[in-house]
Amino acid sequence: MRKPLVVGNWKMNGSRESARDLLRAVIAKETEGLDLMVCPPFIFIDMAAELVKASGIELAAQNLASHQVGAFTGEVSAEMLVEFGCSHTLVGHSERRVLFGETDEIVAAKFVSALNGGLAPILCVGESLAQREAGETDLVVMQQLEEVLKVAGIAGFERSIVAYEPVWAIGTGKSATAEEAETVHRLIRSRLAEESKQVGDKIRVLYGGSVKPENAKELFAMDNIDGALVGGASLDAKAFIEICEAAAK
Ligand code: 13P
Repeated sequence: MRKPLVVGNWKMNGSRESARDLLRAVIAKETEGLDLMVCPPFIFIDMAAELVKASGIELAAQNLASHQVGAFTGEVSAEMLVEFGCSHTLVGHSERRVLFGETDEIVAAKFVSALNGGLAPILCVGESLAQREAGETDLVVMQQLEEVLKVAGIAGFERSIVAYEPVWAIGTGKSATAEEAETVHRLIRSRLAEESKQVGDKIRVLYGGSVKPENAKELFAMDNIDGALVGGASLDAKAFIEICEAAAK
């Protein structure tokens, strides 16, 4: 049985004070029966690590460098993130791919960099609206997965998580239906299971894209949806807690 996981991606939002208040509110209502993680902006990670110490909440970074160490101005390495309390990191979020030009190759390098530095990657994949309308969803998602498999191998997925985030559903209020998401989740799992049945059975595949308290239950009822990667609603403690409660088994 896969334990549900809800991850809050705060993106580039909040202040020191609002981030602290949000995290305190989530800690105070920590839900049983699921794993819970938040992705604060880099600069709040140290503070967040202090706050979550006595809780079961884990920290994930939103991004990391594709290199381990060296002259890479403005970058943050996997080892630094581990030292400051992160266990996981997002890799290949669509905002990184679309707005910052991260190619499948860069994403694969970051995935490996995370593993080498001791972080478990949360690999984000998903198609754009044009790709969905052209019937290319499966192709695009498989291509994104394949690039990482090629470099990291199936062993790279043993500790990893995959998040299916259709780009057209991110921040738009328009979620994929539970059935649409389930179809892609099943595809991701079966591709990984072709390489290793054990990894395919065990890996958690999260859905992201306008997850709200109103649609969470329906999404989590699907066999292959193991939780959520939540953007906007994770900035509202009440909404985030309600999503966590819907995921708890
Ligand atoms: P929203 O929940 O705001 O659509 O964002 C999803 C997301 O990008 C999480 O990483």
